[in-house]
Amino acid sequence: MKLKRFKNYQELSGFAATDISDAIKNKPSLVLCLASGDTPKLTVELLVKKLIEEKVDHSKITFIGLDEWVGLPPTNTGSCHYFFQNKLIEPLQLKSSQYFLFDALAGDLKNECVKMDKVIDERKGIDIMLVGIGMNGHIGFNEPGSSFDNLSHVIGLDEITKSVGQKYFNEQVELEKGITIGFKHLLNAKKVFLMANGSKKAEVIRTTVEGPLTEDFPASIMQRHENGFVLIDDEAASLLSKLH
Ligand code: F6R
Repeated sequence: MKLKRFKNYQELSGFAATDISDAIKNKPSLVLCLASGDTPKLTVELLVKKLIEEKVDHSKITFIGLDEWVGLPPTNTGSCHYFFQNKLIEPLQLKSSQYFLFDALAGDLKNECVKMDKVIDERKGIDIMLVGIGMNGHIGFNEPGSSFDNLSHVIGLDEITKSVGQKYFNEQVELEKGITIGFKHLLNAKKVFLMANGSKKAEVIRTTVEGPLTEDFPASIMQRHENGFVLIDDEAASLLSKLH
């Protein structure tokens, strides 16, 4: 794991967008997995802008959505599906064969997981994975206690995830379960960016970087990834006890 520190959210997002765009230039068939949520918003916007303005061929990339709230339709503006549809899939005009999102309304959610694992395995793993971190240290919906050996799975959501998650919705919603890519895929990914900004993330970043490696604090898995980068702005870095 390496740490990269930036002055602010703009610089942090600019770095990630440039890195991903360069990676697509070098490998047009790149397999990219992204989280939704507040943190990667600007990265996704900058990435889309770059790919379009610089006419980067993105017709062969595979895009994978990290997770979804079980039971929510893609039309719900707080769903991960809605985020990707509007911020990435439509602007880049990705073909339906190029992107894979969990269907959170599927009758057989286990099969959704099997299908996603197959997509990843057939492509020999994820090239770049960009994730955020929850206020309980979760990554995707790998909640505290999740095994580092998990493939894609369905999980009952932690209380913190349920309450913090309300911020994405215009109305109060029932959030009980999530469907998510598991940590086995993260450990196999060729590169992982865990991104955090703002002082509210300072405590979880300190635990990620300086705390013990434990399934009780999911983001600590970054310590195990040789090509894992924790990208943070000065505010998120403010509680680190030493210079990294
Ligand atoms: C969303 C996701 C979540 C978020 C995390 C941080 O797809 O996977 O794990 O990355 O909860 O959310 P924000 O970025 O909104 O603070």
